[in-house]
Amino acid sequence: MFSELVRNNRTRRIYNRSEVSQSLLKELIEDCRFSASTVNRQEIRYILVNDDQMCRSIFRITNLPTTHKVDEENRPGAFVIMVTKRDMNLPDSFLYYNLGIATANLTLSASSRGYSCVTLLSTNMEKLAALVSLDPDYKAVSVIAVGKSEQAVQTTDIEGGDTSYYKDKGVHTVPKLTADSLIIGKI
Ligand SMILES: Cc1cc2nc3c(=O)[nH]c(=O)nc-3n(C[C@H](O)[C@H](O)[C@H](O)COP(=O)(O)O)c2cc1C
Repeated sequence: MFSELVRNNRTRRIYNRSEVSQSLLKELIEDCRFSASTVNRQEIRYILVNDDQMCRSIFRITNLPTTHKVDEENRPGAFVIMVTKRDMNLPDSFLYYNLGIATANLTLSASSRGYSCVTLLSTNMEKLAALVSLDPDYKAVSVIAVGKSEQAVQTTDIEGGDTSYYKDKGVHTVPKLTADSLIIGKI
């Protein structure tokens, strides 16, 4: 049921040490490849990382250990790096629209298979490209962590005000605006 899947597709940042296989990562791309894209150009390419040492290095340049104080032992089991050709000649607004659709499909696919994700767009993409020795014709444009997580998360409905996430009795809580407060017109 789509409504249940989308409600359960929550960002998680604390992972257990379960392996994330290359075959699982490929299944995510098998779903992701059906994403809509500007004039069907399909400009996004994927680098699938589950090598433990590389995951440790990538984890260290994300904001998980700094902003979110995630211990290294709770690092994700894999990362999916999204890249595009430097000379693809597509405005950023189109690229990021396409990336959003691909990200939603990839994380929904992971969620449906019992995995969790966090999109880590604040990561320094140049450092990331250097870490994985990315072909200079490409640039890294996003990175998504994938792993098994037991982190409890919940949403709470709000009508407005502060949308910042917070801890409620230790549980990561994400306020979500109600449909009534999101709909500002009916014609
Ligand atoms: C485009 C985008 C970039 C994000 N970048 C980061 C990030 O750099 N670090 C992080 O911890 N979370 C990041 N997030 C996760 C958001 O904080 C998260 O989606 C938000 O708190 C709502 O939680 P939810 O995904 O469970 O609805 C990002 C999410 C999106 C959609």
